[in-house]
Amino acid sequence: MTEAADLLDPAERLGLEALRALQLERLRSSLRHAYDNVPFYRESFDEAGVHPDDCRSLSDLARFPFTTKADLRENYPYGMFAVPRDRIRRVHASSGTTGRPTVVGYTEGDLSLWADLVARSIRAAGGRPGDVAHVAYGYGLFTGGLGAHYGAERLGCTVIPASGGMTSRQVTLIQDLKPSIIMVTPSYMLTLLDEFERQGVDPRGTSLRVGIFGAEPWTERMRQEIEERFAIDAVDIYGLSEVIGPGVAQECAETKDGLHIWEDHFFPEVVDPVTGEVLPEGERGELVFTSLTKEAMPVVRYRTRDLTRLLPGTARVFRRMEKITGRSDDMVILRGVNLFPTQIEEIVLRTPGVAPHFQLRLTREGRLDRLTVRAEARPDADAAARETAARSIGAAVKDGIGVSAEVEIVDPETLERSVGKIRRIVDLRG
Ligand code: DLL
Repeated sequence: MTEAADLLDPAERLGLEALRALQLERLRSSLRHAYDNVPFYRESFDEAGVHPDDCRSLSDLARFPFTTKADLRENYPYGMFAVPRDRIRRVHASSGTTGRPTVVGYTEGDLSLWADLVARSIRAAGGRPGDVAHVAYGYGLFTGGLGAHYGAERLGCTVIPASGGMTSRQVTLIQDLKPSIIMVTPSYMLTLLDEFERQGVDPRGTSLRVGIFGAEPWTERMRQEIEERFAIDAVDIYGLSEVIGPGVAQECAETKDGLHIWEDHFFPEVVDPVTGEVLPEGERGELVFTSLTKEAMPVVRYRTRDLTRLLPGTARVFRRMEKITGRSDDMVILRGVNLFPTQIEEIVLRTPGVAPHFQLRLTREGRLDRLTVRAEARPDADAAARETAARSIGAAVKDGIGVSAEVEIVDPETLERSVGKIRRIVDLRG
């Protein structure tokens, strides 16, 4: 066996049949745990006329009702917890942009599982015990910072808990403490890139070897940009607070072909976002998760609103999810055409003369919605280059997506920079 295979968790070496058997056993006990201990699940199962004992095969899960973000909000703050409050060791909150946040809780066992799964993720990304990991995801209620932190420690890394912000200090820390791994949102990595350049430090010359990027959608183009500019391997990490945090799925360094879902703990389904019908493997729809082992806050068929498709395993036995195209919340419907910020990212990043910074502005004139793509010129782009870039972005949006957009090429360093999750859409439609 190779050295890398020696490092795998026992579950990563299961055969497919053994994995499915383990999932079914865990699913049945998780449904039972939710039903017995969370009034919300008891009511929703009863109302749907299903009982945990009705789950005799993995496909029976489709008979159970969905759980939505609204359900979590209605049970704010502790109503979804399945254990007494004094067994909750920590809470986090999701980064909802509107309304009440949703609070999630962890028992000691959940925190340990989470650390194990982030450790597994970092290892899949190419990290090893002894690596120095720079964590620039925000620390606090957001699960990114602390999730990455404890996972890296569990793997046996030295952790630099940088959190987000104080960008010039981040560059100093990276130069002085020589991390080999960075964990950060892809958009903040671009902010760091600007800062390296501002300080006259070659971003390709650092000790960094691997970047583990997530918490927001990013494209293959963005991967290329980051890998080239920093001379690192860039891989994708996915997760959401309601399910556990980062470490629900991870792309493997050796294949970089989508994210392996740690499905020994989180059972995935992809459903039609409108009808809720379960879609066959390979079809695009909304990702839904059922936790299999969580204690404090089990989730049953939680609607993530993230759009992707499931694919068979490659580097691991677990199924993969394709890189997320977007969230249904971030979908812009413009004169009947659906559009995601990632589609614009693909276009902007392949256009010469513009930097990888852009923003989408939505305005309304009369009854007509208008989209303006604002992209930042590269410092060396003259007026003619800007003009060409604007025309080429406009044409690509029209041809590739099928809507007309205005394009504004703005001066370098004028668009807002990310310190965490970036906001791509500025909706001025009122
Ligand atoms: O963003 C957890 C996380 C932290 C994941 C650090 C990865 C790295 P929330 O704040 O609850 O949790 O937001 C979850 O972020 O439903 C997706 O819409 C989006 N998201 C997370 N990871 C990715 C990714 C964290 N790799 C929401 N690609 C999710 C695309 C992602 N979107």
